[in-house]
This record gives sequence, C-alpha cells and structure tokens, in this order.
Amino acid sequence: MKFNDLLRRTKSNLENLGWRLLTPFLQLYFNEKHFEELYKKKPDPWNYENYEFEKEKYQKTLELIPSDVQTIWEVGCSEGLFTQLLLSKGKEVFGVDISETALLRAQERFKDFGDKIHLQKLDITREDIDGTFDLVLASEILYYLGGKNILLPLEEKFYRHLRPGGYLLLCHFYPSGKIIHDIFRENNRFQEVSEKVTHHPHRDYIITLLKRQ
Ligand SMILES: C[S@@+](CC[C@H](N)C(=O)[O-])C[C@H]1O[C@@H](n2cnc3c(N)ncnc32)[C@H](O)[C@@H]1O
Repeated sequence: MKFNDLLRRTKSNLENLGWRLLTPFLQLYFNEKHFEELYKKKPDPWNYENYEFEKEKYQKTLELIPSDVQTIWEVGCSEGLFTQLLLSKGKEVFGVDISETALLRAQERFKDFGDKIHLQKLDITREDIDGTFDLVLASEILYYLGGKNILLPLEEKFYRHLRPGGYLLLCHFYPSGKIIHDIFRENNRFQEVSEKVTHHPHRDYIITLLKRQ
C-alpha cells in the first residue's frame, strides 16, 4: 500500500472512532445556542458562498436530484444557499433550520420567490412538520445530531414525510458520512439508487441517494 493511502486510511479510521466516541455528547454541544451564536457572529459561517469546494459539492448533489422531483424538504437549510439552486431549478422547497438568524437571512434572500419557498424554524430531532414530499435533503447536518438513537427515529420521520417512491438525498463528510448514511438503510425501507465517495484534497465526502419503498 502506498504511504499516502495508508495515511488516508489511518486518518479515516481515527475520524470514525472520534465520531463514534463523541455521539452521546453531540447534542450537549451542537444545540440551538451553538448554531445561533455561530450565525450571529458572522453570516455564512462556513464560507459556503465563496468556497470552490462547496460549490463543486453543491453541483454534484444537485445533479443527482431525479427529474420527477418537485417538492423538497431541505433539513438544515441554513441561509438558503443550496436552497437557491433548488429554486432556480423550479423546485418547491420547504426549508427548516434550528437557527432563527439563518432563516431570517434566507427569508431576505428569497423575497422574490413567492410561494415556491416555505421556511420554518424547527429542531429536526424534537419537532415535526406537516406534509409529504418528493425528496428529503440532508446535507452536512446529520453528524451534529447524535448516534443511532437519534438517527433511527429520523429515518422513520423522513420515511413518513416521503411519498412512496420518494427520495432521500444525503451528503456528508467521508468516512463518518458512510456510517451515518448506512443507518438509513438499516430498516430496509430505503433502497440505494446511487452512492459516491469523492476524494478531495480539502475533505472527502459521500453523497447517497436512497429511494423509499
Ligand atoms: C453545516 S450547516 C449545513 C447547511 C446546508 N445544509 C448546506 O449543506 O449548505 C448545518 C445546518 O444545520 C442546522 N442544524 C443543526 N442542528 C439542527 C437541528 N437539530 N434541527 C434543524 N437544523 C439544525 C444548523 O443551524 C446549520 O444551519
């Protein structure tokens, strides 16, 4: 094995171990206060707007959305950067986020999009919304929430809010993202449509598209 591959594999294993060890404590730290403070400190805290890496990741995620999808539940929509791309493709988006400040910025961004956009403040682990959608999108959010005890109830929630044959689109850093995405397959209610790991000099990531039975 080449040295670089060995280094990458070691880093991956350590990252997975770290995530598994931390899962019981994630909600103590990554709560509403944490995200609200982040957004209050500065807009676009992860610099999504100007980062080529994020633009490329958004594009790859966008390309996977099947053409028969019209309504999307975007979980953790932040200030609406990805939401904007969805709207520009003519989709109707129901965006939820735990941060009021992020949603106010999203609202400002979407002044001209009329009834194609619906925003709601919501903690996805504790609250629910109404409606059935063609696709649920969860990008760079699930690793903040916790382990199986939190993610399996979310699997049930996503299943319930999707029409039969609807899609679940997940995008997270790899390798912890692989463990997370696999949890959504455990109940055999979602079938894999595609899964791709992108190895990137900045960070590896995985995008998984699942279909509800
Ligand atoms: C890293 S950002 C990702 C934003 C967006 N999905 C993207 O990929 O560009 C994570 C977002 O999830 C939101 N979030 C974190 N925990 C949440 C929860 N329990 N319920 C709803 N939103 C949450 C945060 O406020 C933040 O906007």
